[in-house]
Amino acid sequence: MISIRGLAKRYGEQPALQGIDLDLAAGELCVVLGPSGAGKSTLLRCINRLVEPDAGEIRINGEPPPASPAALRELRARVGMIFQQHNLVPRLSVLKNVLSGRLARLPLWSSLLQIFPREDIAIAMEALNRVGLAERAEDRADHLSGGQQQRVGIARALAQQPQVLLADEPVASLDPQTARVVLEDLRSAAHDLQIAVLCNLHQVELAREFADRVVGIAAGRVVFDGTPSALDESALRLIYPGLEPGLHGLAA
Ligand SMILES: Nc1ncnc2c1ncn2[C@@H]1O[C@H](COP(=O)(O)OP(=O)(O)O)[C@@H](O)[C@H]1O
Ligand SMILES: [Mg+2]
Repeated sequence: MISIRGLAKRYGEQPALQGIDLDLAAGELCVVLGPSGAGKSTLLRCINRLVEPDAGEIRINGEPPPASPAALRELRARVGMIFQQHNLVPRLSVLKNVLSGRLARLPLWSSLLQIFPREDIAIAMEALNRVGLAERAEDRADHLSGGQQQRVGIARALAQQPQVLLADEPVASLDPQTARVVLEDLRSAAHDLQIAVLCNLHQVELAREFADRVVGIAAGRVVFDGTPSALDESALRLIYPGLEPGLHGLAA
């Protein structure tokens, strides 16, 4: 689904990613672990071209990198993004927020007039249903809890009908129980909809619990790639170089 070869990115003198080779499969929740500054966000941003790589190639479904603004729009329509802060429009309804996920696929007049085809409303409602919030469709987004708003953010990305879903620390500001609900949403989206989901996390325990696959990044390089069960103490020492022995459950 996603094939990354020789990806490199530096900001000024500082290399953020170097020599990244990764293949990501559809139908899988792949969690990216690594210390702060390791390059996790840069990796996700290179995939949807919020950041332009310096070297290497990223192919989604075998397609070459976008060479025109139209190709870039097309790529962004195929790649959904979920942020730490869900970026909803607070005073709009939940449904309108989710419908904004359809904008990349709708003509401009539709968004300007806020008139959405029946089919798009059905797609948005289905996405809301998937995260268990269909009955909140007409509520103002800012009347929902933080966890619910993050799940609306997931529904908005799913309404895009993406092939790839990128989530950059989507549970960083949520309590552990709500975080688990959100990660369950992401995992079931990967499995049920057969999309590739790439999710940055800083909680090792959540990666163990939810990931189908874990990629560890340290100082801009992939230092671990395996199943959560292979995430033992020596693997964690590679991913978190300063880690004390025996503290693996607490790595953050
Ligand atoms: N826009 C930017 N300008 C300059 N340096 C950046 C920028 N974004 C990230 N960096 C640097 O690149 C490295 C990787 O950052 P990032 O991808 O945000 O890591 P992570 O998400 O793992 O914390 C860090 O050293 C960070 O300071
Ligand atoms: Mg980050």
